[in-house]
Amino acid sequence: MNIPRISSGIPALDNMLSGGFIPESSTLLRGAPGTGKTTFAFQFLIEGLRQNQPGLLVAFEEFPESLYRDAASLGWDLKSFEASGLLHIMFTSPEVFLHSLSTPESTLTRRLHEHNIQRIALDSLTHFTRITTNTHELRDIYNRVINGIRREQLTGLYLAEEMRSDFTADEKGRLSFIVDCIVLLRYLEIDSAIERAITVLKMRSSDHDKQIHRFTIEANDAPYASRIHIGPRLQGKAGLLAGLTERRIISNVRSTQ
Ligand SMILES: Nc1ncnc2c1ncn2[C@@H]1O[C@H](COP(=O)(O)OP(=O)(O)OP(=O)(O)O)[C@@H](O)[C@H]1O
Ligand SMILES: [Mg+2]
Repeated sequence: MNIPRISSGIPALDNMLSGGFIPESSTLLRGAPGTGKTTFAFQFLIEGLRQNQPGLLVAFEEFPESLYRDAASLGWDLKSFEASGLLHIMFTSPEVFLHSLSTPESTLTRRLHEHNIQRIALDSLTHFTRITTNTHELRDIYNRVINGIRREQLTGLYLAEEMRSDFTADEKGRLSFIVDCIVLLRYLEIDSAIERAITVLKMRSSDHDKQIHRFTIEANDAPYASRIHIGPRLQGKAGLLAGLTERRIISNVRSTQ
């Protein structure tokens, strides 16, 4: 069966996701600081503009000026997108957002319904860790956020800072178990240069690309052109996800074991 997909705005990422995000699904985008998480969120929401699917960016404890400036440096005029009525930006705190999401007549829920919002990006879930140090409580908060957004039938992109070097380590709040899809952004050291890499770790109800790909971020003047360029899969490198890359052919590694 061919399920319609929600485009990420990045054609190569859509291919990695077998066509795009599943409608009304939740995707966790994890990455170290500066790997490009907010840029992915812009790309996802701006693609919504192109497809007449209104979107909302929720920014926690971010200065509005820096968000507009960062977007402008990539060639996006967020104010003009907002003026079109298809992009909405909300600056709030995790506590207020959580409360508004579960309150039927809050400014947030009214806004979602009045503007027929279909895509949402939260920048970032990491801010919710400030509400509590209790792991069970944090898991409950994540469930309330993600289920609240599912209830509103939105396709959600949740940004989160990568806290540790090993992605397999158990994480606080067990976020990876709650979401439908996980995309991981990483810095890699390859031949003495720092590069960025992307991989899809998990995707419920769908096949997906299991390879690791390099990507770059480049400014562009065309509003809908992708600022993120994903290359072919990385080959012949060992230890990529642990960030331990070196110029080493995997078959050589095997032969010395
Ligand atoms: N105009 C530009 N041209 C090329 N690359 C850019 C441009 N503007 C930003 N970048 C790249 O994008 C990176 C930041 O991307 P972004 O803000 O999306 O990352 P992030 O993961 O959200 O960061 P943070 O963890 O700080 O929120 C910068 O470090 C820079 O390398
Ligand atoms: Mg960011």
